[in-house]
Amino acid sequence: MSKKISIAILCGGQSAEHEISLLSAKNIVSSLDKNKYDLQLIGIDKSGTWHKLNPDNFLINEDDPKNIHFSKTDNQIFFSPNYYNKQTINCGEYDENTPFDLVIPVLHGPNGEDGTIQGLFKLAGVPVLGCGVLSSAVCMDKDMTKKILKAEGIPVCNHLVARKNSKTNPSFEIAQKQLGIPLFIKPANMGSSVGVSKVSNNTEFEAALDLAFKHDDKILIEEAIDGRELEIAVLGNLEPKTSIVGEVAPTLDFYSFDAKYVNPDGAHLIIPADIPESAAKEMSELAIKAFTALECRGLARCDFFYTKDNKLLINELNTFPGFTNISQYPMLWEKSGVSNSELMDLLINFTLNT
Ligand SMILES: Nc1ncnc2c1ncn2[C@@H]1O[C@H](COP(=O)(O)OP(=O)(O)O)[C@@H](O)[C@H]1O
Ligand SMILES: [Mg+2]
Repeated sequence: MSKKISIAILCGGQSAEHEISLLSAKNIVSSLDKNKYDLQLIGIDKSGTWHKLNPDNFLINEDDPKNIHFSKTDNQIFFSPNYYNKQTINCGEYDENTPFDLVIPVLHGPNGEDGTIQGLFKLAGVPVLGCGVLSSAVCMDKDMTKKILKAEGIPVCNHLVARKNSKTNPSFEIAQKQLGIPLFIKPANMGSSVGVSKVSNNTEFEAALDLAFKHDDKILIEEAIDGRELEIAVLGNLEPKTSIVGEVAPTLDFYSFDAKYVNPDGAHLIIPADIPESAAKEMSELAIKAFTALECRGLARCDFFYTKDNKLLINELNTFPGFTNISQYPMLWEKSGVSNSELMDLLINFTLNT
């Protein structure tokens, strides 16, 4: 039998999506075929320290998304770029070399999904599964994403930008005049609905800005789109394929953090979405166009709004979407006939052989 592929999986991280990353990592670890892959699991704690974890048993409070954490170890991680022409990370002792064939950055949000980790491993000469520095950074920033999609003629909602401590930020009156009400306020670089608010008056607007500025120095003020939320999974490199379409139907006001992860009745996931064939086809085309325009590689989940008058607008692309056992990306592929384990094989193949 040929030599196993050696994989470093990174999880946790310092972003507000730390907990979700742990649940994603658990699902990915169990999907990877241990006959083909040797796994090293690395947990990044909230202070930014890296720990070597036991992939078979690393989670505490795993049924509670708000309090889940990994069991910390004192096994240190050492970086040695280009050591023996290959070595990048040592787990444990200095003389215990663990060369890796690739890294899977199971990290959501800033310092994980935003190009920073991708840059670190690019420097170290190790392939990273998924999007590279540029596409990760652009897709993390909802303002930049929209600007590029708009330039490509891909429909997105209108938005304004506000910056921390700026004296020229749009007032509620101006935002309302240009974008109507309600408005959505959100950090430019975040995910899992952290810091996202829907507002209809000045008091709510100010509170929402304060909340969003806790997470980022740049925030978006968006027109609210009255429509269904549809998602499609994209897989591949220069000739990407798309999955069937899924719908997320939040039962609460919008698809908030609680609706995503805490309240089991917070949203209904409907796969396949009950939409006309023509809309599904248009979504696939727009998702591939966006994936290509944004230089994405490997994977992305492309999220849409579908309005009552049948217009499709892209909301965002997630370059390392949730991989938990209730997450859309792996489920969309599963229902398209690609099992979690096959999906990981394909993603690894796209990383190593292109
Ligand atoms: N412009 C908008 N119009 C309508 N709903 C929105 C809008 N922006 C965000 N939302 C709601 O908030 C949720 C989270 O916002 P999103 O931009 O997707 O951020 P995140 O990256 O945190 O998922 C969306 O899934 C949707 O329910
Ligand atoms: Mg979203």
